[in-house]
Amino acid sequence: MKNPVYPLVLLVTTLFLLASCKENTFQQLNIIPKPHSAYATHKNITLDKNSRIIYEDPNPALRLMGEELAAFIHSKSDFRPEVVPYSLIQSLENDIFLATNLNDSSFGNDGYRISNSGGKIISIQANGGQGVFYGIQSFYQLFPIEFYQATESKSSWEVPIVNISDKSRFAYRGMHLDVGRHLFPVEFIKQYIDLMALYKYNYFHWHLTEDQGWRIEIKAYPNLTKTGAWRSETIMGHQSERPKKFDGKPYGGFYTQDEVREIVDYAASRYITVIPEIEMPGHSSAALAAYPELGCSGGPYQVQTQWGVFDEIYCTKESTFTFLEAVLTEVMALFPGKYIHIGGDEAPKKSWKNCPHCQETIREEGLENEAELQSWFITRIADFLQKNDRQLIGWDEILEGGLPSDATVMSWRGTEGGIAAAQMGHDVIMTPGSHCYFDHYQGNSETEPLAIGGYTPVSKVYAYEAIPAELNQQEARHILGAQANVWTEYLRNPDAVTYMILPRMAALSEALWSPPEKKDWKSFYDRLPAHFSRYEALGLKYSRAVDQAKIQITQSETGEKILEISSEIPEVSIYYTLNPSIPGQSSQLYQQAFDPKKAESISIQLFKNEKPVGDPQIHSLNY
Ligand code: ACM
Ligand code: ZN
Repeated sequence: MKNPVYPLVLLVTTLFLLASCKENTFQQLNIIPKPHSAYATHKNITLDKNSRIIYEDPNPALRLMGEELAAFIHSKSDFRPEVVPYSLIQSLENDIFLATNLNDSSFGNDGYRISNSGGKIISIQANGGQGVFYGIQSFYQLFPIEFYQATESKSSWEVPIVNISDKSRFAYRGMHLDVGRHLFPVEFIKQYIDLMALYKYNYFHWHLTEDQGWRIEIKAYPNLTKTGAWRSETIMGHQSERPKKFDGKPYGGFYTQDEVREIVDYAASRYITVIPEIEMPGHSSAALAAYPELGCSGGPYQVQTQWGVFDEIYCTKESTFTFLEAVLTEVMALFPGKYIHIGGDEAPKKSWKNCPHCQETIREEGLENEAELQSWFITRIADFLQKNDRQLIGWDEILEGGLPSDATVMSWRGTEGGIAAAQMGHDVIMTPGSHCYFDHYQGNSETEPLAIGGYTPVSKVYAYEAIPAELNQQEARHILGAQANVWTEYLRNPDAVTYMILPRMAALSEALWSPPEKKDWKSFYDRLPAHFSRYEALGLKYSRAVDQAKIQITQSETGEKILEISSEIPEVSIYYTLNPSIPGQSSQLYQQAFDPKKAESISIQLFKNEKPVGDPQIHSLNY
């Protein structure tokens, strides 16, 4: 750094940080996940045609990030900031400066600092590209809502000058997407990745194979997609409805290897690693339909047309491993990350019990039972991955019958599997159904789109603590982080998916990124409207269930009806009428559960700070 301006930037920045005022409330900043520390200066920087994005050179990654930032600003402006290498400039003024010269190991790989010099230059500094990238994601969120909503280009924008120091709490912050039950266009997968980047997620778990469809092109086995990617029809309504109804329409598709590479590269440029999941030994109906010789009975099998767990799974005979190793070899060539997810969940043992091949494997290998056979199966795959310098992740069923030595466990059936694995010294990613299944309802099931079940409102996701209390400090180090799972039995299109993840993925991001002592539901709730406006400006469907009252009707021991109303909103008042008229603040104030007697309906309106929140709700009490 020979340029004389440079030490000046650092000096002024340092002086400013020393003189900065007390920490501001975050409401006015609206950044999610909440940074470690942020100090607003109550001043703005004006970005206009004279503003530039200056990057420390030579650093092509910073130049690309600068170009993206310039394009972001240009999308709502009649100017496009010039992206200039630092070595070519004489002085700095109303510019944005990107640099990897932080040289402070306490920020790690993903931490960053946003600072300013004399209220004129915004510096986004980190130890490397990932930190600068996250700094830019926070910087995006400093732009006013009007920026996102603008339909006409403006000639200047005021952005608040804020000094931020930030870094992640957990190293693994994941979002999963099931493309087996329903698949989504490449453009949507990229949008999903963009949302992940905005909220500083760094692992995309791509669930690529299922009973209802095989979704990744494998050159050595073309039937996987020719046959396995297509089902004859799809069950309608909820799986539990009787009689079952089917739509009679063929459904399917897959991602070509070129498309996979495109998505992996797109994610990588956003510091997101894609983890492919190739399910085995269960959830393999689509593969068996394509290659029936891989099953115990030899088939015929069908690509499943309804949801659930199916008895037919891969046989443990040698030819299955020839197949799986060939598939994984192509998969490893496409996905450069160290982790390969091999499923391992929900594999019924019925077909192995009835199969002479599988029973012979049990005898030959000196195994006790089918649980040990599954462990033997997974260990074989783990060894194969290890020989290829990759590491296996599996759902917590891989604990049954013994865990391969370097396996990472994804704990989904509660936290027990994660606790056991961490106590055995294995790395763990927490995805418990209680907090991390975004296919669950987030509001009243009567008014929400059809979902699999459950109730996981955004406040519950927000409250999630990924480190189980049962672990000591040493064991807790094995909890790499957590992940939301997005199963798509009931999510048929991109709008349905974004509805289920927004805003819950924002809530989980704060549980994974921000220091636990900074977590504050009230502050998070107050920051949500800015994000809702952004979703609207981006045309994204999202859920406002947070602003709805939750209604529960139960029966007391003496047979009375008990109506309970609750709300996630901090400091809210619940008003109601026992008729269809919309309540105001002179209506009944809800204080505790009560018996609505013969009332046919209840109308509810929430109020906060004397203003109505959310829409009025009318619920029938006739049942
Ligand atoms: C799972 O939900 N079967 C991992
Ligand atoms: Zn078999």
